[in-house]
Amino acid sequence: MDLGLKDKVAIVTGSARGLGAATARRLAEEGAKVVVTDILAEQAQATVADLQAKGLAAHCVVGDITKAADVERLVAEAVATFGGVHVLVNNAGFPRDKYLVKMSEEDWDLVMNVMLKGAFLATRAVMPKMIEQGWGRVINISSRAHLGNPTQANYSAAKAGLIGMAKALAIEQGRYGITVNCVAPGFMETEMVQALPTYETIKERAVAAQPIKRVGRPQDIADAVAFLASERAGFISGEVVHVTGGRYG
Ligand SMILES: NC(=O)c1ccc[n+]([C@@H]2O[C@H](COP(=O)([O-])OP(=O)(O)OC[C@H]3O[C@@H](n4cnc5c(N)ncnc54)[C@H](O)[C@@H]3O)[C@@H](O)[C@H]2O)c1
Repeated sequence: MDLGLKDKVAIVTGSARGLGAATARRLAEEGAKVVVTDILAEQAQATVADLQAKGLAAHCVVGDITKAADVERLVAEAVATFGGVHVLVNNAGFPRDKYLVKMSEEDWDLVMNVMLKGAFLATRAVMPKMIEQGWGRVINISSRAHLGNPTQANYSAAKAGLIGMAKALAIEQGRYGITVNCVAPGFMETEMVQALPTYETIKERAVAAQPIKRVGRPQDIADAVAFLASERAGFISGEVVHVTGGRYG
């Protein structure tokens, strides 16, 4: 199936590694020109060098998605380098898991800032170009955790917030040919989850709770995002695609 992504320009936030890097690669393999952006300068540059070595179109912008000036520079560079912005994947994010009584204000603010404020700033920055083009795809990386997880009041709230934001923008921006959707990953094997002290326990529990008995792979998310970013998904907006091996609760 031709996804119609050839020469589309895609920004993937937090794409130095993990799900973002896999998504950037997948979009580039479909012919998109991808902008890899992250605070991890060396890893972001290495990811771009790897894509370029495979003959794929990629550009690196190092920056912090929570800073409006960095986000404006990101979008300006994407447009200057590749001539537009057609796809935005709001992927940058991390957890700060604690039981609520032990959760600091900083734990709350960091998680809200990177996921909700970051997605707000990036989406606001690309929207004028998407409106001008009469074509756009915004995909927020939410999480199965939007349904709630103990120790994740901050993370679950932010991930549910990304869904609310997508549903509002789907209604607001649809008239311009712009769709806004979410992908909600389940347990995916990436450096972020491997770094958790409870990694082995979470992994065992996740696989036990999933009808499909394997750990999720970054490629699973990349495939779902590529479809939602594609020409083929032009009549789907305000949706949440769960990529969780069939697990919901
Ligand atoms: N791995 C999972 O099981 C899982 C499950 C559900 C949802 N998610 C979500 O998927 C997304 C990617 O997760 P991952 O597992 O690939 O994690 P990861 O830590 O490997 O990747 C996240 C990237 O975001 C970047 N980032 C963090 N703060 C940033 C900032 N301020 N500005 C720019 N970049 C920043 C990090 O440097 C990192 O490269 C996250 O939003 C995460 O919450 C992951």
